[in-house]
Amino acid sequence: MSELVEFTKAGGIAVVTINNPPVNALSPGVPEGIAEAIEQINDDATVKAAVLIGAGRTFVSGADIKEFDKIRSGEASGTMSFPDLLTQIENCKKPVVMAIHGNALGGGLELAMAGHYRVAATNAQVGQPEVKLGIIPGAHGTQRLPRLAGVAKALAMCVEGKPILALEALKFGIVDRLIEGDLLSGAISFAREIAGRPIPKTRDRTEKLGTPEESATIFAAALETARKKQRGMLAPLAAIDAVEAATKLPFDEGCQLERKLFMECLLSDQSKALIHVFFGEREVAKIPDVPKDTPTIAVNRAAVVGAGTMGGGIAMVFANAGIPVLLKEADQAALDRGMANIQKNYAVSVARGRFTQQFVDERLKLIQPAISYDGFANVDMVIEAVFEGMALKKQIFSELDPVCKPDAILASNTSTLNIDEIAAATSRPEFVIGTHFFSPANVMRLLEIVRGKQTSKQVIATSMQLSKKLGKIGVLVGNCRGFVGNRMFHPYVRESVFLVEEGASVEAVDNALYDFGMAMGPLAVGDLAGLDVGWRIRKEYRHLEKPGIRQAFAGDRLCEMGRFGQKTGAGWYKYDEQRRTTPDPEVEQLVRRWSAEEKISQRNISADEIVDRCVYALVNEGARILEEGFASRAVDIDIIYINGYGFPAYRGGPMWYADTVGLKRVYDRIRQFQEQHGEIWEPAPLLKYLAEEGKTFAEFTRGQGAIAEQPENSANSLFRARVLGRKYL
Ligand code: 3HC
Ligand code: NAI
Repeated sequence: MSELVEFTKAGGIAVVTINNPPVNALSPGVPEGIAEAIEQINDDATVKAAVLIGAGRTFVSGADIKEFDKIRSGEASGTMSFPDLLTQIENCKKPVVMAIHGNALGGGLELAMAGHYRVAATNAQVGQPEVKLGIIPGAHGTQRLPRLAGVAKALAMCVEGKPILALEALKFGIVDRLIEGDLLSGAISFAREIAGRPIPKTRDRTEKLGTPEESATIFAAALETARKKQRGMLAPLAAIDAVEAATKLPFDEGCQLERKLFMECLLSDQSKALIHVFFGEREVAKIPDVPKDTPTIAVNRAAVVGAGTMGGGIAMVFANAGIPVLLKEADQAALDRGMANIQKNYAVSVARGRFTQQFVDERLKLIQPAISYDGFANVDMVIEAVFEGMALKKQIFSELDPVCKPDAILASNTSTLNIDEIAAATSRPEFVIGTHFFSPANVMRLLEIVRGKQTSKQVIATSMQLSKKLGKIGVLVGNCRGFVGNRMFHPYVRESVFLVEEGASVEAVDNALYDFGMAMGPLAVGDLAGLDVGWRIRKEYRHLEKPGIRQAFAGDRLCEMGRFGQKTGAGWYKYDEQRRTTPDPEVEQLVRRWSAEEKISQRNISADEIVDRCVYALVNEGARILEEGFASRAVDIDIIYINGYGFPAYRGGPMWYADTVGLKRVYDRIRQFQEQHGEIWEPAPLLKYLAEEGKTFAEFTRGQGAIAEQPENSANSLFRARVLGRKYL
């Protein structure tokens, strides 16, 4: 028997244990091992029934996702087809009880449903999350789940991909019994109970499939919802078709259609991109020069300074994770305002059913308002979120330094300022780090963790670990202006404004990028965040601008008119009291007039050009960031853009998208833009190099070194020597 599957007997009950840590994925060897066990069960007259269980922390978390590339290229190493195994299990002559703990996901749930009974630990979860990888269940899941759970529930699970808890699975007939206490002994007792009874097969059940008339409205509604909520994604639509097949075709034919759709999805660019994102979200936690076993500091108590938009949200994030947090403001009035905002935000969550009132009451007790540093001596980490201004930040850090424990981490939520300069205001620069939350902090998943020149590895490891505890995706970035996300966002927004100045309407620019898959168009984002934010920053940094380089002006002129966006009822668009958006013909007229004054010739601009201009501006800046070593890998940039800037996950992030288009094509297009628009479009040397070598960003970064502690760190100079040295110097 395969090493990954163990076979034992307990009385007349066979126990088959899958042991493929960490998540018991169905890697090559696992299906083969189970098939052998089933043969043995069939052949052994002393076996009356069987239990199949997972070793370690979980049942089976699905197909081995690493194998998908091999399936695509026809090089899969397993010798057994997983769907065939499921048929073999269902046809077993003795009843097979699937015992679920941890997760039964994807192929894991498909395996469970091919068994004759399912029992589950009370905290187990089951689901068909394949759509999140751009595929659909590929081993009868779309055919068996509606037979067990009914069409509506199966559709929801296969289309949205969200797992459900054991109790709900019991309610819907996906599992037959919940087991309190030891799962294996409970499952064995259950197996003894049902041994000798007629063996039920899921495939034969039709009572929950309904009639085509009954189901028609369910499918129509699912289609409408998927088109809206999973805009641009192909897999949810394929999942709907596959579940619909279960209601119209005999089981085997339904399975064939499912397989066809599964393979189409698997071969799609969307599934390649989403699988890149799945592994990317795990990869970003691995910092090349900060080993996994780096010691960390326990963060049991925290403090936040500044209870404004960000500080209040950050305090909620800590409280939601069960970490008590002090929230300090400059004065009582500001503190009261901050606490009132927190209460209001929690009330919205309760009204939307996200949290219960009891949960919120408990969380609120964890947030302790303060107007002095009393209690700061006991905290393990402080996050500063006061106004953006170097002098104020330095003052706060110099106040924190003497009152906090020597090994307390002092973090800044700054979005633009130099972490090293802030750290220099303390006697412990190695304990200073940037933790750049995104707004609203209690909702957005991204956390850019900014490494200063002297930030210690222990502090980096602690911050990365903490991000997971806080329910965030932490990505380590280097200390450059705007860090990774905002540094790239700047040229992206610049191009969107240029396009308007060159003749595109505000809606045409936003619609093109929305249709590309962005959560919102860049101009609408500006209105939401406040156009004045960028305007103030541009004014502050105007002295750094190179003379003779084209600058976008339309956004700044709107600000000069008091049009700051949603908060003033007008920006690129107009807003009513409920902040509903309408295009504003006045903006169109103004921009045309300003452009004429600036002698910018007007033309029709296609949606394709809008997308290329804006997205390639991201890519070109991303390439510079990589080249300079401010991101560890291209995938880090992708994860930042998907989780912090609404870039469509099904395109894999900007760098992956560029790889998909082909870097030579991207480079050629950027060269065209350079000819038309000048120096701002100079291609990044790394992009030029990779395009000429026929390589990808993903290839370049694989196995590369550490993130920049400062512009010229080892990885960076290594790159310069290796790439720039050979090609350009
Ligand atoms: N295949 C290969 N590797 C997997 C995997 C899978 N299905 N699931 C998890 N892993 C790997 C992770 O990459 C990670 O590797 P690393 O330590 O080298 O980074 C390791 O296992 C542990 O995973 P997590 O860090 O994610 O562990 P958590 O405990 O946080 O989460 C989990 C566990 C909920 C199971 C989560 O890993 C998960 O959601 N996995 C994917 C589940 C899934 O999508 N299943 C469907 C697969 S497609 C399928 O089954 C097709 C079928 O219809 C034929
Ligand atoms: P804000 O203006 O909403 O809040 C700042 C708060 O700091 C105010 O409530 C103010 O009273 C308080 N404060 C000022 N001096 C203080 C002192 N000495 N002690 C205690 N509190 C003091 O600002 P916001 O938007 O929350 O920004 C805070 C920081 O977060 C800034 O550095 C900003 O750049 C950054 N940031 C902002 C984002 C956003 O979208 N608003 C996103 C990411 C980062």
